[in-house]
Amino acid sequence: MEKPIILVTGGTGYIGSHTVVELQQSGFETVIVDNLSNSTLDVVDGITRITHTKPHFEQIDCLDGQGLSDVFKKYQNIKAVIHFAASKAVGESVHKPLLYYRNNLLSLLNLIETMMAHHAPHLVFSSSCTVYGQPDVLPVTEDAPVKPATSPYGNTKQIGEEIIGDAIHSGAPLQSILLRYFNPIGAHPSAEIGELPNGVPQNLVPFITQTAIGKRAQLSVFGNDYPTPDGSCIRDYINVVDLAKAHVVAIKRLLAGETGLVETFNIGTGRGLSVLELVNLFQQVTGVALPYRIVARRAGDIAQVWADPTKANTILGWKAETGIDDTLRSAWKWEQKQVIKKLRD
Ligand code: UD1
Repeated sequence: MEKPIILVTGGTGYIGSHTVVELQQSGFETVIVDNLSNSTLDVVDGITRITHTKPHFEQIDCLDGQGLSDVFKKYQNIKAVIHFAASKAVGESVHKPLLYYRNNLLSLLNLIETMMAHHAPHLVFSSSCTVYGQPDVLPVTEDAPVKPATSPYGNTKQIGEEIIGDAIHSGAPLQSILLRYFNPIGAHPSAEIGELPNGVPQNLVPFITQTAIGKRAQLSVFGNDYPTPDGSCIRDYINVVDLAKAHVVAIKRLLAGETGLVETFNIGTGRGLSVLELVNLFQQVTGVALPYRIVARRAGDIAQVWADPTKANTILGWKAETGIDDTLRSAWKWEQKQVIKKLRD
């Protein structure tokens, strides 16, 4: 059989680029579809330097159904899709909900319809632990109830899961694995690719590394009065390369026909870390002092969430492997590299 090609939407983004690397290193041919709204073509070069193989690249917006269809016509053997392309800033989604619903949901509809028209039945979907809200039981398993979303962004993940489930249950020729990510952090150990936040970072680790390098004066820790041991929020921080590897396993499972029609997996470490613990670990690991102050809680944050990854461990045979120290080191190496790059340019 001809080798299947994997289409990766949002493949020049943060998680997408790390996944393309892992796919290529596992012998898959990949096509990236990305509108470059939040990334640049340099990422393709970074991927190529790591893997010594260039992914195919098509600058297309997933809202453009015809464009997507043309990609399936051009690369005849696309059998599976990993759909990362989405807007992901939680705060922005509150101010621009229609943009988020349009970008995240219409693109998914276009994609599913195009996949069906071109007989590509396998879909891995980027979902998020945000669907659990504040879980009643921790660690949280996949059976935990989905809670009302606290932002339009979170809602698009919930509705996205429902769209896929409903389509499959209606008999559509589609099989899907929904991966619920916890908090992805870090960068490829080569520092060839990593997270490139647009403007002021909203997420914790890019804010930490930018503060450590002197780009930001001080980190604000949002709240120390949560019902947690040190009062700051607890999250499950998952190394981005480990997370990327979960996609490769999911793709192999889909292609081998080992999966049910739709399956959901938590992709996390199973370990919760507080914001203050993470800040201290970063200082220990890098030896860099990190100025920070405690400020008020951030609206919409939940107190604590971490994964029970048993289902992914046993059924997918996937496990988070990288220690938090190495992960923080990779984030720091990446940040330092950005400065060197800027000086060179
Ligand atoms: C959010 C989203 C999640 C999304 C993820 C990646 C929700 C509830 N969560 O996760 O769905 O996948 O972003 O985009 O929608 N913090 C600080 N100071 C900062 C920044 C963050 O103290 O400057 C704290 C936050 O209060 C939180 C923790 O760090 O407790 C992690 O925050 P963040 O990196 O933004 O991720 P989440 O909000 O957990």
